[in-house]
Amino acid sequence: MRTGNIAVIGAQLGDEAKARTVHWFSQHNHNRHYVIRWSGGANAGHTLYHNGKKIVRHLLPSADFSNPDCHAFLGSGMVINLEELLQEVKDTDAMFPGAGAPYRITVDPDAFVVLPKHLKEDKENVVKFGSTGRGISPCYRDKVNRCGIKIGDLFKFDTSLEDQRDLVQALMNKGVRFSYAVREAIMFDRSDLIFEGAQSVMLDQNFGAYPYVSSGECTLGGIFNAGFAQYMPKTVYGVIKPYTTAVGKMPFPTEQLNDWGNKVREQGHEFGATTGRPRRIGALDFPALRYSIAKGGITHLILTKLDILNGMENIPVCRNYEHGDPISGQDFFSAKPVIEETKGWKTIDDKDYSDEQLWNFIRLVEGETKGETIVSHLSWGTGEKEMTGVASYGDSYWLVDAEGKQL
Ligand code: IMP
Repeated sequence: MRTGNIAVIGAQLGDEAKARTVHWFSQHNHNRHYVIRWSGGANAGHTLYHNGKKIVRHLLPSADFSNPDCHAFLGSGMVINLEELLQEVKDTDAMFPGAGAPYRITVDPDAFVVLPKHLKEDKENVVKFGSTGRGISPCYRDKVNRCGIKIGDLFKFDTSLEDQRDLVQALMNKGVRFSYAVREAIMFDRSDLIFEGAQSVMLDQNFGAYPYVSSGECTLGGIFNAGFAQYMPKTVYGVIKPYTTAVGKMPFPTEQLNDWGNKVREQGHEFGATTGRPRRIGALDFPALRYSIAKGGITHLILTKLDILNGMENIPVCRNYEHGDPISGQDFFSAKPVIEETKGWKTIDDKDYSDEQLWNFIRLVEGETKGETIVSHLSWGTGEKEMTGVASYGDSYWLVDAEGKQL
């Protein structure tokens, strides 16, 4: 399979299983390809499974390093904790011995360094805004305030940041390259680029319920600003679960503080991959999804974690807010959702996907997003075979493998 240049972004409040889908694209792409992170830092908790083994990455893209065609790039919009990156590179190298994974990792020296002082300062934000405490917002603040440190600075002047310089040296000794995006153009031209979003449209600085947002640029603007103007993807996958989760203190209109919410948290293992915090659980929120699609330029939807709701007779969803759809992130503070129930499905896997209720749910998702997006992929587990494409003709749907062959 070739993916071409695509972006995968979160269309809810983070933790939509983006990493699982990016990893699947990387697993199946046998053209030379890059998986590119462009924003955020170790606040992201990207969980993926390789041969049944769980891998949690915070900085490295969700590239499948066992695939010799796969490369990873950490873009200039990121804020990087070098100590954490070194550890992830070592872990990845150990996990794929002999695959030369570190030699396939390139970091843009224009990315900013998360310093120990940023980590210390962010502790206050954990209490105030529910941040992940990874130094993200203090580092971005220094960037905007023109007093941040770029990785490239560590090579240039006597910064008195010997420890940080040592970390860069240790990364280079492992095989990691430091090179500006523009220098890599000749390689990017010959490759498929899979842009991996971190956080989500609704956690984006500009689009989320400010100030309960993250500090990175989570949508296409961030790709452009990280130096990829020539490679802007036309296909933008928005990843959603059939329910919503949130970590932090943001307004969460469809939150379900009830047995259903607790059951979904347990069945879906909805605990933060970065902080271990129990995630807040809510119903699938269509007004919020319509907002994400509009702000994020989303063209396709990938529905993940369908198995978590297997066997539930009814599923709560929100099709409308009492006072109309949100047009600003601030509208989420006053949103009054109308919660309804829709019929659930019995089960889904690649052999058994005939339950009409499942397809009614997909029809509901496509209908509620006003036909602007199609559901292009489904995922119901963590394995390579537990994600497929969706094809349709008229009113019929069926599953297709990565090559588009009917299952
Ligand atoms: P920060 O990015 O650590 O400053 O946190 C700001 C807000 O974004 C908090 O509510 C975090 O819980 C949330 N957040 C940041 N990264 C993620 C993520 O990867 N998944 C879900 N929530 C996140």
